[in-house]
Amino acid sequence: MRQGELPGESVTQRELPGGSRTHGALLELRDVHAYYGDVECLHGIDLTVDQGEVVVVLGANGAGKTTLLRSICRLVRTKGDITFGGKQIGGKSTYDVVRRGVSMVPQGRGTLVDLSVDDNIRAGGYIRRDKEVEADVRYWYDVFPRLAERKSTSGGSLSGGEQQMLAIARALMSRPTLLLLDEPSLGLAPIVVRQLFDVLARVCAERSVAMVVVEQNAALALDMAQRGYVLEAGTVAVTGAADRLRNDESVRRAYLGY
Ligand SMILES: Nc1ncnc2c1ncn2[C@@H]1O[C@H](COP(=O)(O)OP(=O)(O)OP(=O)(O)O)[C@@H](O)[C@H]1O
Ligand SMILES: [Mg+2]
Repeated sequence: MRQGELPGESVTQRELPGGSRTHGALLELRDVHAYYGDVECLHGIDLTVDQGEVVVVLGANGAGKTTLLRSICRLVRTKGDITFGGKQIGGKSTYDVVRRGVSMVPQGRGTLVDLSVDDNIRAGGYIRRDKEVEADVRYWYDVFPRLAERKSTSGGSLSGGEQQMLAIARALMSRPTLLLLDEPSLGLAPIVVRQLFDVLARVCAERSVAMVVVEQNAALALDMAQRGYVLEAGTVAVTGAADRLRNDESVRRAYLGY
């Protein structure tokens, strides 16, 4: 079944200008289907992310956004092609995928509540064997001064916004080339959300990390992203350059509220 086609009806995916590149992408999904047990939740997704590129994924609740991220880091059963850095990762374990340079900040952050802030950050670097771990810890305290002030308090005593920053610092401690973020702004005050996106843009520029950001805050996410995908019921409904999506009437009405 082609992307965007549901059984018994034909829905064509709309590709706006500035859509995906097909050669030399960092991450490439081709006709990816995902399953929980026997139930298929993604129905043939095509998606690419270039080196250092920020891609936003929009979609209603239950559209399959989290499942898409889980497919990439091998936390759900899939069919279809998934390549990362030119190599197939579809049959690999989550550990292998992390080792190759993918890191995920899950929905709900996953703070290790009993560990200190400092240990939480260091836990993100556990797979590294190089000598620059200390320099990176300092870098993250520089990016997030609030975490530096609270480095010996337990992760569980941080506010929601602080925990989100901690989750991001921890995910980036493995020096990924691709960061997957599942609704990073969920539950955060608007001013904190703004700061969070500023930090993500800084990290993207300074560390040239590519990102796939699942986000309900479509306006901010589209500001930061180069391209985007709108998921509907497990398929890609619309894809294109971020500014095209921002000006697309259906996207505006559904996700930007004007
Ligand atoms: N562990 C699971 N077992 C069975 N079905 C699941 C599981 N997780 C998700 N699903 C189903 O898969 C579909 C896609 O869910 P998913 O969590 O990917 O959506 P989402 O777009 O991330 O939604 P939200 O915006 O609410 O986070 C939904 O129909 C959901 O009910
Ligand atoms: Mg989700």
